[in-house]
Amino acid sequence: MSLPDPSDLSFRRFRRLRRTEGLRRLVRETRLSADDFIYPLFITYGRGVRRPVPSMPGVDQISVDQLPAEVEDLRRHGIGAVLLFGIPETKDAVASGAYDEHGVVQEAVRAIKAVDRDLVVITDVCNCEYTDHGHCGILIDGEVANDPTLELLARTAVSQAAAGADAVAPSDMMDGRVKVIRRALDEAGFTQTPIISYAAKYASAFYGPFRDAAESTPSFGDRRSHQMDPGNRREALAEIATDIEEGADAIIVKPALPYLDVVAEARVRFDVPVLAYNVSGEYSMLKAAALNGWIDERRAVLEALTAIKRAGAGAIITYHAKEAARWLAEEA
Ligand code: PBG
Ligand code: ZN
Repeated sequence: MSLPDPSDLSFRRFRRLRRTEGLRRLVRETRLSADDFIYPLFITYGRGVRRPVPSMPGVDQISVDQLPAEVEDLRRHGIGAVLLFGIPETKDAVASGAYDEHGVVQEAVRAIKAVDRDLVVITDVCNCEYTDHGHCGILIDGEVANDPTLELLARTAVSQAAAGADAVAPSDMMDGRVKVIRRALDEAGFTQTPIISYAAKYASAFYGPFRDAAESTPSFGDRRSHQMDPGNRREALAEIATDIEEGADAIIVKPALPYLDVVAEARVRFDVPVLAYNVSGEYSMLKAAALNGWIDERRAVLEALTAIKRAGAGAIITYHAKEAARWLAEEA
């Protein structure tokens, strides 16, 4: 057999740089690290509680007294940031537990700061875990009323900052909330507390397991009157631009994997940090497949997280944070 004509050998040989692990590492464009991760925590009332969430294997609701051990475990994994959600003992129509000075999240912030001042504590600002109807705001004629809800959000953000939160993250999707929260924080003297807004948050089926974990499923209806329609991308850019104008210091795209186009576009258009929230349903899908032996969990999780970072996320909120950090440490 004769060699092909030399001119036919002029094709580009991509495979040369893929031959060994050493070469692949050398030319890898996206590298994950534990620094990229923010770990969500579900804080419940009571003492001595560590209650597994059935739809999220590996995730627990924990009470405030469990936090010192939890913080130690996170630090052991090299994780430097958490996002707090609260499950209050009592719920009412006006989400009183959300802005209670001694609410579960406020107490959790203090408990964490008491043992580790440097762990970055971000608090979720919304009402749905605290209302008896499970909606994100005040209901008027069965609808989530935008402007009356803003005041509750502002009070919640201020109470969290007062407890020592490093940043507040409004996830409610009310119009104007960043503006109102910024003003309230400034007036209360928290001019240095950043707002990380969930600017592009879609009305997603992938929040299902979270609502089990946070006990925040709406008693009727859904969240489509305020969260975004999954088909819209330009609207997401308008939401992000508006939040930045209103004072957001960083923004979140949520969910992550089904919306990487939005992450990528946000990253090139805006000069604030773009975070992505790898939500509960994204986590549970991989867990379920892994527990059935249908997928290589470690490879699938690291691939998914790498893809989120490659799309442009500066940080990733993920329930996989601990295991991913452990796997990364093993590879290093
Ligand atoms: C509260 C909130 C939700 C999530 C984060 N903040 C649920 C919702 O909007 O119903 C979802 C997070 C996840 O699924 O992991 N508004
Ligand atoms: Zn909500």
